[in-house]
Amino acid sequence: MKIDWPDGLSEAVFLAEYWQQKPLLIRSAFENFDNPIDPDELAGLACDEDSNARYIEHTGNNEWRLCAGPLSDNFFDDVTGHEWSLLVSDVEKLLPEFRDYLQPFRFLPDWRIDDLMISYAPVGGSVGAHVDQYDVFLLQADGIREWQIENTARVKNNTSVSNTIAILGDFIADDTWELQAGDMLYLPPQYAHHGVAKSEPCMTWSIGFRAPSVDEMLPDIINYLMEDESATVRFRDPRRAATVTPGKIDDTDIAAIRSMLVKALNQSDETLNQWIGRCITEPKEPQESTEPNGISQEHIANHLSGGGALLSNSQMRLAYTQSDGQATLFANGMDYNCNPTLAEAICNRHRVVIDDTRSNKSEAYESSDLLAKLCQRQVLLLDNQNT
Ligand code: SIN
Ligand code: CO
Repeated sequence: MKIDWPDGLSEAVFLAEYWQQKPLLIRSAFENFDNPIDPDELAGLACDEDSNARYIEHTGNNEWRLCAGPLSDNFFDDVTGHEWSLLVSDVEKLLPEFRDYLQPFRFLPDWRIDDLMISYAPVGGSVGAHVDQYDVFLLQADGIREWQIENTARVKNNTSVSNTIAILGDFIADDTWELQAGDMLYLPPQYAHHGVAKSEPCMTWSIGFRAPSVDEMLPDIINYLMEDESATVRFRDPRRAATVTPGKIDDTDIAAIRSMLVKALNQSDETLNQWIGRCITEPKEPQESTEPNGISQEHIANHLSGGGALLSNSQMRLAYTQSDGQATLFANGMDYNCNPTLAEAICNRHRVVIDDTRSNKSEAYESSDLLAKLCQRQVLLLDNQNT
């Protein structure tokens, strides 16, 4: 699957001229797009206890009802109106085969991609006019949705007219388009939009992105840096001059404190890489810690030498950094020293075969140790179809 860019556009032109800058409507982005999930299956998914689902209903003027999933099996028995939407986020984490649909968007790094959300709405259904803080590709997977958008980005702090979900009371559309199956609309952050289902079954896929903010990163890096002894360094002022303004905090003291803080944050590349990798692969929801399984190095070696593969677990956030011929692999906030070939196989291709484990003889041993650890912690799963 590849994005069929309009004439004159390519990934490079899109990145240079549209990404984070302005909306783009791509007609027939995926020609003959074959929607692999129907509304009933989506409803089934919303009932799965591991799903991240929301039901949103417009119940009156500025009144909205929000039910967070997992939904009960008979939830839809009581649904009578048609101004509602069902949205399931993180579909690619729950159903690994959906990870393939993110492939066309991997001209952007995985760490920027948040999830695939799939929505269904009966004709008239909508989640109201709103802004998202993140970039999104809105792919019409089935049926028709009318999208209205404003063509300038809003500044932050938009007030909501609903107490339940964020709805703009002052939305004025600049552009209106009907999107058919295979059409896709790209929106940068803070572009107000309003999508209304126009034909059955209206299913919209949102490929959503993420971008950490300073207020999200600061507490995390501070916690990380506080693990280090250097964080206990205390303010010192030997040989200071006597003050004649004892009530004042002197500029030189302020400068000294600033320099302590700047120094604390100005870490080596190695330290910063480790923190970024851990932070960026941290799962959205804290995971229950599961006991490592007892899979042995020998079993994994036999599996690989018999032509089997190890597949990256789609539920894990994965990334790697690389410097000086060494890689660090990050999986759900944990880090592992790894050879670059193996890190690439795990994170770029999501598939490890025997050749990825033997860069040279000594590394083969380190890999088998690491592979066992990764399989035991279910970062990698055995692909038994090939054995
Ligand atoms: C939807 O699929 O109904 C809403 C998607 C969005 O506006 O981000
Ligand atoms: Co939106």
